Amino acid sequence: MNRIFDRYEIDYVEIIAPMVKPLVYWHVHALGFTLIACSDIESGRPCFSSYLLKSGKINLLLTSAYPMSKVVSDESVRSFIAHNYCGVKRIALKVDSVKDVFAESVSKGAFPVLFPTETEDTNGSIVQAAIRLYDDREIVFCNRSRYGGIFQPGYNACIQHTNGGQEYLSFIDHIAAELRINECNYWSDYLTRAIGTEVVQSIRPGAENKTGMILNINQSFDRNLTLVMAEPDSYRNPSKVQKNIDAFGPGIHHLAFSTDDLVSAAKIFKTKGVEFVNFPSSYYNLLRNSGEFHHLEAIDIDVLEENGIIVDKEGDTFLLQKFIKPISDRPFFLYEIVQRVNGYNGFALKNINVLKKAEEMEIANA
Ligand SMILES: [Fe+2]
Repeated sequence: MNRIFDRYEIDYVEIIAPMVKPLVYWHVHALGFTLIACSDIESGRPCFSSYLLKSGKINLLLTSAYPMSKVVSDESVRSFIAHNYCGVKRIALKVDSVKDVFAESVSKGAFPVLFPTETEDTNGSIVQAAIRLYDDREIVFCNRSRYGGIFQPGYNACIQHTNGGQEYLSFIDHIAAELRINECNYWSDYLTRAIGTEVVQSIRPGAENKTGMILNINQSFDRNLTLVMAEPDSYRNPSKVQKNIDAFGPGIHHLAFSTDDLVSAAKIFKTKGVEFVNFPSSYYNLLRNSGEFHHLEAIDIDVLEENGIIVDKEGDTFLLQKFIKPISDRPFFLYEIVQRVNGYNGFALKNINVLKKAEEMEIANA
């Protein structure tokens, strides 16, 4: 095993989007995040806004750049918005020595984007370096242990939360990308060399696979980092992934957040006006008819249907999933919420086929 890290920990995930201020409001008031820090024109950065949001162990950085008459704004942010509108740009991993990890990663094949760079203010300093991920995304190696300020140089504290600070989302379960044909293995191999993750599960083309896609689940040995990749299984057959790539290009498609109680979280988020992806009633009928859930008190199919939750079962363990509709006007990048019950550690590969079958039944009945 390629042990570049002793332990994996996501420090923060940076989402770039146009006009992030209302998006910050939505994260705080609808999803229960707390606004921790911000960097903007008042903190001396013209044309640039960045907000750090926190829920449980999740640190989300929402960043934007905008034009001003006499100052040129951050080109990397503007160009990301021009190409992707809204999505994940950076996945930052906590490391002890940015220099050592970056050097080892690059020596094993990672594409460098940012050489180790120290930034400082009166509160101390941080060191960051970055390598390429997918087309224009990045994995950042980050050490903030010598920084006594709120987040990074250039950020000021600005605490804001709602519901008395009650949090519903606890950590990032996985980060999923939709990629071009033949890219899943390419990027899986790249990550194995660059950061030491390994493919722990995959779904390949075959009679059993009705999903129209190939999936690789890449995971760190301690399971603290999971990167899911999907690609179309053929250029001959139409597939949802290919449709998305044709319309939006490849890239990070969703962030999955973990919760301890998905039914309660779904109910609360609904009262806040959060919009969810719906699933057809034929899906729930397939679950009822399968008989797999009859003897289980923990799973009530009616409650799942009422709350638009889908379920995958492996032995006595379950994965409950719910999808929030895309977070921006561009219908590509979205959030998933998951609850793993009794230690379920799969990725709903069986359930994807059930959903596909339900979809076909809906089309047949239409
Ligand atoms: Fe997912």
